[in-house]
Amino acid sequence: MTLRPETATDRLMVALDVPTVAEARTIVEETRGAVGVYKIGMQLQFAGGLAFARELAGEGQKIFLDVKLLDIDNTIGKAVENIVKMGVSFVTIHAYPKAMRAAVAARGDAPLALLGVTVLTSMDDGDLVEAGYAEGVADLVGHRALDARTAGMAGVICSPREAKALRGKVGDDLLLVTPGIRPAGADIGDQKRIMTPADAIRAGADYLVVGRPVVGATDRRAAAEAIVAEIEGALGG
Ligand code: C5P
Repeated sequence: MTLRPETATDRLMVALDVPTVAEARTIVEETRGAVGVYKIGMQLQFAGGLAFARELAGEGQKIFLDVKLLDIDNTIGKAVENIVKMGVSFVTIHAYPKAMRAAVAARGDAPLALLGVTVLTSMDDGDLVEAGYAEGVADLVGHRALDARTAGMAGVICSPREAKALRGKVGDDLLLVTPGIRPAGADIGDQKRIMTPADAIRAGADYLVVGRPVVGATDRRAAAEAIVAEIEGALGG
């Protein structure tokens, strides 16, 4: 189950990183049709986001549940079985081989794209050393992407800066989903490995995850449309 994007709009995943479902609902109402996928992450999951995800998926909206699962195989498998029942389209699992294999087995033939988290885009080499890893970001991302492909995952989350090298390494089999997207002039925030939407697409990204540049915009619909136009330009050029 790879879930390839068809249009430029399909490729825009907006992160509903807000404290309440009421605020998330407003963002969806303002941007519906201009955004391909809504991503529901940790913040909203702890405030009714799972029921909201189920509701939107039930209306036919593509939903990305960013739960970043990591646990023992049995628990991962049971969690994935229940996530399949929610009707969401994408879910994240930390790219540990055993966890990914358990998730792939539990998903079976269900229309759920499993995405491996390689290295969070807020991390640099120094952060990995601090966390006890021997490999730097580039090596660890490449290593985990190959493990994701071997496990039968649909794709990986990576920085757009790693997209080009990863395409060379894993071929066209894996979807590359890239957060750390900032249109020119936007605030970087805590992201460390960023790129513009057009550059990310040119580097081989299939989907772009965008949070603050859309959610924090005065005119969110216009912000989403501008990103889609930039994606379209990069696909055509
Ligand atoms: O606001 P911003 O555009 O930085 O949001 C990026 C989103 O992508 C956040 O929801 C963040 O949790 C998520 N993400 C990330 N890096 C990863 C995986 C997910 O930034 N490696």
